[in-house]
Amino acid sequence: MALQDAYILVTGGAGYIGSHTLVTLMEKGFRHLISLDNYSTSRPDSYALVEKITGSRPVVVEGAVGDRALIRHLMDTYKPAGVIHFAAWKAVGESMEKPFLYLENNISQMQVFLEEVYRQHKPVFIFSSSCTVYGEVQQLPVDETTPRRPANSVYGLTKQMGEDLLEGLCRMGFTGPVVALRYFNPVGAYPDGTLGEWPIGKPNNLLPIICQTAAGRLQELTIHGQDYPTRDGTCIRDYVHVMDIAEAHVLALEYATKAASDRMEIFNLGTGSGVSVLEAVHAFEAANGIKLPWRMGPRRPGDVTAVYSNSRKAAEILSWKPRYTLHDMMRSAWLWQQYLENQKLPL
Ligand SMILES: NC(=O)c1ccc[n+]([C@@H]2O[C@H](COP(=O)([O-])OP(=O)(O)OC[C@H]3O[C@@H](n4cnc5c(N)ncnc54)[C@H](O)[C@@H]3O)[C@@H](O)[C@H]2O)c1
Repeated sequence: MALQDAYILVTGGAGYIGSHTLVTLMEKGFRHLISLDNYSTSRPDSYALVEKITGSRPVVVEGAVGDRALIRHLMDTYKPAGVIHFAAWKAVGESMEKPFLYLENNISQMQVFLEEVYRQHKPVFIFSSSCTVYGEVQQLPVDETTPRRPANSVYGLTKQMGEDLLEGLCRMGFTGPVVALRYFNPVGAYPDGTLGEWPIGKPNNLLPIICQTAAGRLQELTIHGQDYPTRDGTCIRDYVHVMDIAEAHVLALEYATKAASDRMEIFNLGTGSGVSVLEAVHAFEAANGIKLPWRMGPRRPGDVTAVYSNSRKAAEILSWKPRYTLHDMMRSAWLWQQYLENQKLPL
């Protein structure tokens, strides 16, 4: 059976990267998608936006990845050929305030999830990892052979633990093919601005904060730290368009299905360009003709100085090539914010 005709279980499909990946999967002909989400950081309304773009909806299941009976039921009913595991909490600061809640949600629940996923089946498994696993890096850019350093946050620790669990289980033969995708900084929105990052409550990530400031919902933007040893004193990140990240999941699914490797494969997903926070703010202003009110504030615990990717491995093995520019990221993010405002969608 072609992969497009098999069931694919997507956890966290109502979230930012999950919803864009649902769109990309549908655009590439995947017809049997199941999205499992407990809406702890997202809204079920995301599916209506996905449907508006693609004309279809996944099978929607409300629940937690740690719900053993539910996962067993889903695996027995649908026997998915692939699992894309996005569901996790990702706020670095919050993970330092609620360390054990983060461990429970991202790791304890994942352990139950894995046990049920692999009880009877060995689907291809794609894990959402992050450049945070590299910690405070010594040498840039980082590639997949760069040693991981101690995590700077409990969130980062949960990503390291998730990778370790999957790597060990895969190496010992308890799983099917596993791919860990280490995203750098996903930003932007569907190009026409009808789907994008839709956080609940106060946003934590730079682009939603920039957009809400531009829309007048936040008074001003605070840049955390101006004394980092970088060209302008602000942190350096590798921003990558969410649609490029979404596409990498389809490529990874197809690759892992064919390669059937008995080792977990890791891929960095970044553009390879380090952009400072101040440069990102200026890029937003230039792309959208908007002047943002911003000020410098103190450093934020958990932030590393600089990190950007060497993504050659993803280019060579997955044929993944980011298509969107920083301008596209900033433009689409603002189009999405305007869509939210015009449609009077809740924020
Ligand atoms: N956005 C980023 O900057 C970034 C960077 C690197 C890695 N990641 C990882 O990518 C994944 C997706 O991130 P995102 O930006 O789309 O975040 P998001 O918060 O928008 O999406 C996560 C989704 O998972 C759901 N969820 C969380 N815990 C759950 C649970 N226990 N059971 C069921 N559903 C649950 C949430 O309701 C939400 O819909 C996460 O694993 C995150 O750690 C994100």
